[in-house]
Amino acid sequence: MSTNLTNDVVIFGLDNSKELSEQIGKVLKREIVPANKIVFADGERILSSSITVRNKNVFIICNTSKPVNDNLMDLLIFVDSLKRASAKYINVVITYYGYARQDRKVNGREPISSKLIADLLTIAGVTKIIAIDLHNPSIQGFFNIPVDDLRGQFIFSQELKSRKEKFVIVSPDHGGAVRARQLAELLQNEEEIAIIDKRRTGPNKCEIMGVLGEVENKNVVIFDDIIDTGGTIINAVKALKEKGAKKVIVAATHGLFSRGFDMFENNDLVDEVIVSNSTSQSQSLIGSNYKKLKVLSLAKFLALVIEANINKTSITEVYNAYSKRNIK
Ligand code: R5P
Repeated sequence: MSTNLTNDVVIFGLDNSKELSEQIGKVLKREIVPANKIVFADGERILSSSITVRNKNVFIICNTSKPVNDNLMDLLIFVDSLKRASAKYINVVITYYGYARQDRKVNGREPISSKLIADLLTIAGVTKIIAIDLHNPSIQGFFNIPVDDLRGQFIFSQELKSRKEKFVIVSPDHGGAVRARQLAELLQNEEEIAIIDKRRTGPNKCEIMGVLGEVENKNVVIFDDIIDTGGTIINAVKALKEKGAKKVIVAATHGLFSRGFDMFENNDLVDEVIVSNSTSQSQSLIGSNYKKLKVLSLAKFLALVIEANINKTSITEVYNAYSKRNIK
């Protein structure tokens, strides 16, 4: 790829995103620098750079999946160290944004933790956020610094197009309908979406009230942003099968798999699960023996986005490249 990376750029990969960072480094033909990290006996940590960042344009590739609080503190402390070392710009490529689901007060006296995280990152010294499929795109507005909330649909559409089959794209809840519609549009399949009418009954618990749309005798792709316990998806799969769906593929940008992957591998109703390598958990499952799991790499996509940020070109051009041709 044609890169115009100057010596003013330093790209760090935190240890929770090691594999993805290395892949990005290969695409950009650029060294990925690890952060120095010490964890003290009581759990406190200290992170710093081994090389100078004075007046540099710095990128940090990381995610704040499980253990979310430790990963978040690592990131905040590292950003603080870079700010105090006189980095000019601190761009955080955060492939999974922990606490994104706490984006509003559902009941009285609740916190809005995703706003709190935005404040913490900004106060630490972040000058730009590059995220992918934030649970709620409105989180962009919780920051007063620029945010690129990238669309994972471009990665998933490339994979699904290669299947040469027609799918109905299903959102597992009302909140994901726009995401499902965008994926269907990229597949030139805009008529074919369905929405599951889901009601949350408690933390990590939900109930399905019905399916809006036609899925009988159709191959379906359930497209969600996060698989955490897997409860939402398994309930959705059951509902779609009851409505006569044929093949059921589960696709989600962020695989947290808090209850492991066996629940999908051993479930006869699920044909396949496709996730990106945005979380530590999905990165750790690459190369596993699970037959139903496919992990798509974000490396090329993120490398193009990092390159666009460095060269001050448009992210829309990256999207256009993905919608027009097959990028490996
Ligand atoms: C909810 O609004 C999200 O989009 C996901 O559907 C949810 O977080 C998945 O969680 P779980 O796998 O625990 O049901």
